[in-house]
Amino acid sequence: MKIAVLPGDGIGTEIVAEAVKVLSALGLQLELEHALVGGAAYEAHGHPLPESTLTLAQSADAILFGAVGDWKYDALERSLRPEQAILGLRKHLGLFANFRPAICHEQLVGASSLKPELIAGLDILIIRELTGDIYFGQPRGRRVATDGHFPGSDEGFDTMRYSRPEIERIAHVAFQAAQKRSGRVTSVDKANVLETSQLWRDVMIDVARHYPDVALDHMYVDNAAMQLVRAPKKFDVVVTGNLFGDILSDEASMLTGSIGMLPSASLNANGQGLYEPSHGSAPDIAGKGIANPLATILSAAMMLRFSLNQAQAAERIEAAVKKVLTQGLRTPDIYSDGCTRVSTAQMGDAVVHAL
Ligand code: IPM
Ligand code: MG
Repeated sequence: MKIAVLPGDGIGTEIVAEAVKVLSALGLQLELEHALVGGAAYEAHGHPLPESTLTLAQSADAILFGAVGDWKYDALERSLRPEQAILGLRKHLGLFANFRPAICHEQLVGASSLKPELIAGLDILIIRELTGDIYFGQPRGRRVATDGHFPGSDEGFDTMRYSRPEIERIAHVAFQAAQKRSGRVTSVDKANVLETSQLWRDVMIDVARHYPDVALDHMYVDNAAMQLVRAPKKFDVVVTGNLFGDILSDEASMLTGSIGMLPSASLNANGQGLYEPSHGSAPDIAGKGIANPLATILSAAMMLRFSLNQAQAAERIEAAVKKVLTQGLRTPDIYSDGCTRVSTAQMGDAVVHAL
């Protein structure tokens, strides 16, 4: 089983190192190959997604990804910015189905900014379409460079677009996920304003006919953002487009105590996947040893389950994470009174020990 390991920038290198520690402790035959991506790759090779990194990712059974981005690249033309690396990987590999489970571990109920009774027992699954929408529509504007030059302009625009097949395939993913859970899907759109969203809603209704055992309801994205903090446990599977999913999954992460807890899986039609924490590169805390590696460690568990057919190993990791939380070990983002503060590396070591 070949895994491409792409740590990236900021805290990416620290958290991925802990996930690698955990993977290596499982006693599986794993071949881990590291490569540069994002700002780190730009520094070394002049491009955030060098050909060699893309080739490695394409040839691997799965990709373990850290995070990309740093404010110091803000002035670069868009095609060279670190974010293009992850967007490029998603597009090149066709990773259209992004699973972002938001589970509140009972030990962390007190770490969330929401009242404990709102989030205790929370277990929702956000399914975000990942290769379409305004992220990949035609952009125009000040940041679009020709030959490295920024043409002056006082207008910027991006086009939001979805095609029926793109919506159909993510709808099938969502309905099938719901069949394995509570049998409910909430589709989030902005059909009261956007044509793209009206198509989204129409297609969701069409595909739902194939799944009579699943109940579908629809919610406008502004209302969904509100309901997520008002009564999050009313949701089960949430399916939405790329931009709304980006925003709602960050919001949902805080229901779990910290964005440092939220793993993700991005799959293509062949089951090949990229696994990454839902959080970013957090350059403000990089190198301090305080980042929470659990989202990445839990992403590695998702990788074992979805791409490497090692469900048992995945369960072992998840149980080990529960155990360290029960032991009271906390990185600063999830710290509360009476717990033990640990560093990034100590958290990784504790998970290995629990394994
Ligand atoms: C995410 C991130 C990315 C996104 C960025 C880094 C391009 O925020 O994975 O949620 O917007 O999709
Ligand atoms: Mg995001």
